[in-house]
Order: sequence, then C-alpha cells, then structure tokens
Amino acid sequence: MAVEERTECPIAHIAFIMDGNGRWAKKRGMPREFGHRQGAEVFRKILRRCCELGICASTYYVFSTENWKRPKKEVDAIMELLERYLDECEREMEKNDVRFVFLGDKSVFSETVQKKMLHIEDVSKKNRYIANLALNYGGRSEICMAVNKLIDEGKTNICEDDITGALYTEASPPLDLIVRTGGDLRISNFLLWQAAYAEFYFTDKLWPDLVPTDVDMIVENFTTRNRRFGGV
Ligand code: FPP
Repeated sequence: MAVEERTECPIAHIAFIMDGNGRWAKKRGMPREFGHRQGAEVFRKILRRCCELGICASTYYVFSTENWKRPKKEVDAIMELLERYLDECEREMEKNDVRFVFLGDKSVFSETVQKKMLHIEDVSKKNRYIANLALNYGGRSEICMAVNKLIDEGKTNICEDDITGALYTEASPPLDLIVRTGGDLRISNFLLWQAAYAEFYFTDKLWPDLVPTDVDMIVENFTTRNRRFGGV
C-alpha cells in the first residue's frame, strides 16, 4: 500500500505478545530456534502491516527480563536474530517511515549492541510510525525505573501523568489493544501500567502462523468494542 493510501486507523497503539514460536517449531520436529527465526520474519511483516494501516505505534514483546532463564542455545539464537534485525533497522526506518524505540534496560547488552540501539533511536526520531521493541523488558521494573527517574529529578508528589511520561513508552499514544498469540490468557509482566484501559485480543494462532491480514481483522474486531474507561 502506498504511503498516500494510509488513512486514520481506529487503533493508535497496538501491542503484541508474540507467543508460540517454540510450539510452532516442535510441531514441525524442529528446534525452538527455528520457530524464533520464523517469528522474526512474521514480526517484520506485521510491523509493515501496522504502518500500512496507519497505526501510530506498535509494540512487540521480543525478550523479557525473565527470558534469560531459557537455555543458552535459545537465548543466543534470539540475540543473533536481534543483532541481524538491528542491522536492518536503518533500511526499514527509511522505507516505512518507522521510528524505533527500544523498551527495557539496555545496560545488559554488549557495548556494540547498546550503541546500535541508541544510534537507531536517534536517527529515526523524526519518523512517523513508532515501533517499540521490548528487549530485556519487564512491566514491574519499568514502573520502578519511572518512579526512580522522577525521584532523581527531585519530584516529591508523583501523579499518574508523571509516571506515564517517565515510562519507556513516553513517545507513544495511550495503549488501545494488546494482542496475545499462542492461546494463553495472561499478561506476563508486559506493559502493566499502559494496559490499565487497553482492550485484549487473544488468539490460539501461534505467532509464526500470524499473517498481515490478521491485523486487519483484529482492527475490525476492535471497532466493535465498547470502551467505557470506567464510565457508563
Ligand atoms: C515466545 O514464544 C517468544 C519469545 C520469547 C521470543 C520472541 C522472539 C521473536 C518473535 C523473534 C525475534 C524478533 C526480533 C525482532 C529479532 P515461546 O518461545 O515462548 O513459544 P512457546 O510458548 O510455544 O514455547
């Protein structure tokens, strides 16, 4: 779809819990890393579709603070996919007008990876469609990080807007919808603060089976939701 065809989308901010890579690989008699590789391909396609649909921000749960507990072979494979993707980001940001933001504590990554992330965030700052990649991310630790940042700034009476503005997602509009693939019905420490009034969409589809038109269908489903934000 050409940029000029992009219209206002009912969803400003969508988030994905990309679950099911391991099971997708197992079904094919392949190692879990094979599923993550396919998962990364699907991530590329879904991000592009979100941009085509005019969704201002899309957030992806790539690697949680808890995912380090996985076998080294699997962690290494995900990190390799991440590094490969970081090398593609500049092309992606130009082609699809993407602004990349990396959510999470970057300090655990190598100097080289940290530098790449900061560079990508910096050079894509002016772009239109935000892609938030959650890496070494945890929702509870994000809230602690935000509160500590405010304390460091000398804030004494912290309000909700202060915390919202100190989170990793400060550049993104309020979260409208969280999509979780893979059949589980839980939030897994993802965007805990931002989820306060978000809608949820759960599907049994495994992440590597998701196709771009599923996003169209999910957007359509979202338009049927009656959002009351605690009112009537
Ligand atoms: C959850 O599925 C998936 C992850 C923990 C990793 C997500 C990673 C990707 C989609 C690929 C990397 C993406 C980029 C941008 C480099 P699972 O492994 O828990 O699946 P299971 O529930 O079937 O075991």
